[in-house]
Amino acid sequence: MRATLHIHTDKKISEIDKRLYGSFIEHLGRAVYGGIYEPSHRTADENGFRKDVAALVRELNVPVIRYPGGNFVSGYNWEDGTGERSNRPCKMELAWQAIETNAVGIDEFQQWARKVGSDIMMTVNLGTRGADEARQLVEYCNAVTPTYYADMRRKNGFSEPFDIRLWCLGNEMDGAWQIGAKTPQEYARIACETAKLMKLVDDRIELVACGSSNAGMPTFGLWEETVLRECYEYIDYLSLHSYYGNYQEDTESYLACSLDMEAFIKQVASICDKIQAEKRSEKQIHLSFDEWNVWFHSSEQDKQIPRWQIAPPQLEDVYTLEDALVVGCLLITLIKNSDRVKIACLAQLVNVIAPIMTETGGRVWKQTIFYPYLHALRYGQGTALAVDIECSCYSTDHYEHVPYVETAAVHDQDKKEVTVFAVNRSLKESCSLTVDLKNAELIEHIAVTGENVKDTNTADEERVFPVWIEEEGNASVLPPKSWNVLRYRMTH
Ligand code: AHR
Repeated sequence: MRATLHIHTDKKISEIDKRLYGSFIEHLGRAVYGGIYEPSHRTADENGFRKDVAALVRELNVPVIRYPGGNFVSGYNWEDGTGERSNRPCKMELAWQAIETNAVGIDEFQQWARKVGSDIMMTVNLGTRGADEARQLVEYCNAVTPTYYADMRRKNGFSEPFDIRLWCLGNEMDGAWQIGAKTPQEYARIACETAKLMKLVDDRIELVACGSSNAGMPTFGLWEETVLRECYEYIDYLSLHSYYGNYQEDTESYLACSLDMEAFIKQVASICDKIQAEKRSEKQIHLSFDEWNVWFHSSEQDKQIPRWQIAPPQLEDVYTLEDALVVGCLLITLIKNSDRVKIACLAQLVNVIAPIMTETGGRVWKQTIFYPYLHALRYGQGTALAVDIECSCYSTDHYEHVPYVETAAVHDQDKKEVTVFAVNRSLKESCSLTVDLKNAELIEHIAVTGENVKDTNTADEERVFPVWIEEEGNASVLPPKSWNVLRYRMTH
């Protein structure tokens, strides 16, 4: 198969916000306990955090991490995770039906986040709580005043504010599964009043309002319109969430699911623009795709996990090569829509539907999806450029006109480099890709591929990993079923 990629260096999509490659850690399963935090582990630091896990998070260089949920946050009292450890209550965690010890809370998490070099995107509880507790949490984290909650932080040993600038107004409040779920109107009102108070405490913060939990929600559209009409002047971003899976064992359709992500983004952006026009506002609402990933492998096994355990192994999807290709296509879609999507979080980061896995008390290892995420973080900074791909397409029972090659290009002006990300969706054929980019020489071609789309990585064996491809001639050969990074140095 042959394809040609035209890169329009003079046609910029957008500067990429570095938060486009964020991630997420929820108090769920072994994400925190046995994941980032394990005081008895041989690599534990003075605060009980695993240094082997922190080293991988640092290797990724994750700009922002959403915390502490997720569904968890809608029943969470943030004060439970602050102050003297021996006084912290052990609680029934209703969202995931587990026991929460509260050994880790915002006090510890912000110390860890600082060490791994990530900012925090903090979520407030709008399920069982409201504006009052949210404004108190902003004061606890950010205020320098000699007032009750700022003093409480000082008493807990933190004289300097945590300075958390990005906040989510609840989580998936449209979902029947959510603790304290709301109708569009109920959520719009509480989100508006909460946003108002939070910004009165600290006017430097940015706020994300909940959009729909996925594009298939019965209130999708109505929800966004209602929330935007009510909250427009107080919020900065509207959220999108979406998880994907090869439910039908149809790999060709599965590899095309990024087309759904693309459509979802365009639809939500159009609703934002409609309300902007209605309000005759100068302000444009941007998007925060603050939960996205593949999630389906663990769904059945999770039904067998007994309730009320501390850190049960929930949502521990073991990813395949095809999942890594899907994650690659989803990253490309986010880059191509970076004019509207400013924040996105790969959900999640450690153990729970995650690129990084641990054995409690043992090793740490990289899932297949670690690599496209690492490459996007490392080489996807700068300006997203418009591209056109000439290639053949395929159709499945679910999709028409799926291009065999999915691509995005990013220009890093400081490094004078252009990087092309490309997924070859063909399961059988390699693709000889001609890249139309003037004054450029190829530095390297990295690919992630494998024998079988069902290949996985485990703690014992890594089967899916990056390889370096030697170029022959003018075109780059993308192996069948592969994720590719083509790095060019610009000569003028
Ligand atoms: O990421 C796992 C869960 O998925 C989150 O807790 C929730 O927000 C979403 O439904």
